[in-house]
Amino acid sequence: SKADDLNKKKILITAGPTYERIDPVRFIGNFSSGKMGYAIAEECASRGAEVTLITGPVNLTATNKNIKTINVESAEEMFQESMNIFPQMDIAILSAAVADYKPSHSKDKKIKRKESEKITIDLTPNPDIAASLGKIKRSDQLLIGFALETNDEEANAIKKLEKKNFDYIVLNSLQDEGAGFGKDTNKVTIISRKGEKVAFGLKSKKEVAVDIINTVLFSNFHK
Ligand code: C5P
Repeated sequence: SKADDLNKKKILITAGPTYERIDPVRFIGNFSSGKMGYAIAEECASRGAEVTLITGPVNLTATNKNIKTINVESAEEMFQESMNIFPQMDIAILSAAVADYKPSHSKDKKIKRKESEKITIDLTPNPDIAASLGKIKRSDQLLIGFALETNDEEANAIKKLEKKNFDYIVLNSLQDEGAGFGKDTNKVTIISRKGEKVAFGLKSKKEVAVDIINTVLFSNFHK
């Protein structure tokens, strides 16, 4: 039955934003709420999976006892934890909005404001967690990523799927009111490695989580 159809499957989920420190009191971040990732974690756990949720700073708490939460702050920490645990997983679903760049030198002391002086923050690329997991992925593992595109959405999502070695990519639509960052609803299209595609309507993130799990694990789509 649906209640335990993910029985004992080991699933890694990344969620939320990452914070990249500038100094002890400031960071570069983004508006990700973590709601989509937490909804996926709760759905998987309620169906019997053993979930490891690696999460950036969010105002959410996982409730299901099948969810082990690992709190991280930066992309570098999320990368270390993810690489460490992925070999023991059956599936990884990467919903985190990872910062692309971090300050090259984060300061030990609070930066002071000086009148009439410009300052610059030099940025260094963060590791691409998705692409790194894609490189070490075994044939018995599934890797699922997200894409948030503003133009040529599907073509860009397919490029991303190939580049990062995903089995499926979940394309968030920005065209629609109610979809995306911070909202309680989302509208997604799921594309498989083989090019199969299914588009869903605007739904609660809980319902979207159900659609994602059912599509990547129980549809006739296959690798
Ligand atoms: O390249 P882009 O950031 O658009 O790719 C989005 C997908 O890659 C998401 O699944 C996101 O969680 C993942 N990602 C990641 N590490 C990064 C950047 C993105 O895992 N540094």
